[in-house]
Amino acid sequence: MTGHKRFLSACRGESVDCTPIWIMRQAGRYLPEYRALRRQHSMETAIQTPELAAKITLLPLQHFELDAAIIFSDILPPLAGMGLELAFVPGHGPSIANPLRTPKAVDMLRVPPARETMAPTLDAIRLVRPELDAQGLALIGFAGAPFTMASYAIEGGATRNFAHTKQFMYHQPAAWDRLMIKLSSLTIDYLGAQIQAGADCVQLFDSWVGALSRYDYERYVRPYSHRVLSAVESKGPVIHFSTNTGPYLESVAEAGGHVIGVDWRIPIDEASRRVNRPVMGNLDPCTLLGPWRELFPHVRDVMQRVAGCPGHVFNLGHGILPQTPLENVKRLVDCVHSYDHDN
Ligand code: CP3
Repeated sequence: MTGHKRFLSACRGESVDCTPIWIMRQAGRYLPEYRALRRQHSMETAIQTPELAAKITLLPLQHFELDAAIIFSDILPPLAGMGLELAFVPGHGPSIANPLRTPKAVDMLRVPPARETMAPTLDAIRLVRPELDAQGLALIGFAGAPFTMASYAIEGGATRNFAHTKQFMYHQPAAWDRLMIKLSSLTIDYLGAQIQAGADCVQLFDSWVGALSRYDYERYVRPYSHRVLSAVESKGPVIHFSTNTGPYLESVAEAGGHVIGVDWRIPIDEASRRVNRPVMGNLDPCTLLGPWRELFPHVRDVMQRVAGCPGHVFNLGHGILPQTPLENVKRLVDCVHSYDHDN
């Protein structure tokens, strides 16, 4: 089986010759070639130059026999097209100079078509497609889910407790609704454009939604995630990823997605049972910082738990850490591919 077929079959819950694997943030700072490129080019330039983004997308495939590539970009650039002043501050992370704090600011936001504001990423997809076809590998596109995008737009940067976001949600429910409609419309168009440009599958990242109670998730977020997922599901396979949502994972699955991605806080067999469809995950990225003798039992635990579950894409429970030794990644990928469930 090619990686392309293995990955897409697992996403559909069909049988595979071995478990497919890709790694969140696989084209990132743990790779020496990535760090060298980033010394020459800013994050903005790397994302906005299709040839550079294409090159970075392919970097991890030179090291590891992964089954899929994920297009190099970030979830936040679409916010810039809406009118938010986004910058990737070296050594600090993304920051927004004019965070959204009022209903008027929501009404000023534009919802431009992705082919206008995200053209470099769509072009990067078209550039890597023939190379991935030659290697028999799948290509994953992605976008941030409405809540994770809204929280970045409102907080303006990293946050501990999401106080501004929740305050806005509770004080301005009508403006929150208008914001989530704008974000979901933008995201439906963007994910559709990525599939049209050549992505085989798309992942919706709701990395931060686990900050909410079940009640708030269902009241303020799920209708909009559902709006995105139901619109995109007919166009291609969709992975719905979130973290910290173990307490209400059924509710997250109800929003949609052919595959549910989970972090390490929930045993993957429990996730599989509760969502009743293929799952992605869920090794703790920190386990890759340990020696193989401690890492291997964690890998084996995931593999033993999902044995017999319908559809599994191996991944970490969240992004790979910059200090991860390449040797551990190589051993992980090879171990997942050669894993024999009978032994
Ligand atoms: O997975 C991939 O390799 C594809 C590219 C990708 C990036 N970010 C590249 C990136 C993807 C899918 C993302 C998703 C993303 N970005 C999320 C959701 C998933 C998650 O990890 O929680 C979020 C919340 C962001 C926002 C973001 N971008 C933050 C908070 C940061 C700074 C912290 C960090 O991890 O570096 C970024 C920067 C960023 N995005 C880098 C990369 C490779 C590092 C940039 C650099 O310093 O070179």
